[in-house]
Amino acid sequence: MCPPAHFKVTYSINPWMDPAKPVDVPLAVAQWEDLRDRYRALGHTVEELTPRRELPDMVYAANGATVVDGRVLGARFAHREREAEAAAHLEWFRAHGFTEVHEPVHINEGEGDFAVTSSYVLAGRGFRASPLSHGEAQEFFGRPVIGLDLIDPRYYHLDTALAVLDDAADEVMYYPAAFSPGSRAVLRRLFPDALIAEEPDAEALGLNAVSDGRHVLLPQAAVGLYEPLRARGFEPIGMDLSELLKGGGSVKCCTQELRA
Ligand code: ARG
Repeated sequence: MCPPAHFKVTYSINPWMDPAKPVDVPLAVAQWEDLRDRYRALGHTVEELTPRRELPDMVYAANGATVVDGRVLGARFAHREREAEAAAHLEWFRAHGFTEVHEPVHINEGEGDFAVTSSYVLAGRGFRASPLSHGEAQEFFGRPVIGLDLIDPRYYHLDTALAVLDDAADEVMYYPAAFSPGSRAVLRRLFPDALIAEEPDAEALGLNAVSDGRHVLLPQAAVGLYEPLRARGFEPIGMDLSELLKGGGSVKCCTQELRA
């Protein structure tokens, strides 16, 4: 995770970002600390990346890399404004003993567009990741990569439209309208028992969630997901990240998972 000490919305690269809307940085920091402290209280280890003043989107740490089996696939950002974040992440991994590190040829924004289940790496495309990054990820991780087409600019990253609930059981939740008809059919085929999100919860960025297989941390306003999650044996934990929503991100965007 990376604290939002220098968070601001000075450019707009997704429909959620309005540079005219003021951002309350102390509030953003407090909300972010709540999320970090919640992970720690649940027994998870949280590493912190040093934020850089010239990189206001760096708080969305999920975009900096994808780690599977301890292998690190670096990021390559679609927009110039975020380009330099990739090197900051790579530097962190190299300094922390990760030796299998691949610097990508094709554009991918880390876990923004890659989601890892037990059987697959799901990979979004349409707005950010290059479709060519899917083959690159498959070759590097040695896991089947399933390409999914995103069609609604509000759901510009896969992690705004789909969350992995249990990576041991291939359990996911997603918002069908964010995907092309063919990709919807693929999701139905691979995950017939998925939790299907309704529009108000998707609009609250409720799919931008992180699950440890039992606790599901998600944006507080996505109230329609609480009961369905409980019915499946999960414990939903609503988090208020209203300030970070102004950049188009929430719980998952702020969290990169280090899969050993
Ligand atoms: N402002 C950032 C962007 O548009 C938000 C990134 C959100 N991160 C995510 N994993 N979806 O790039």
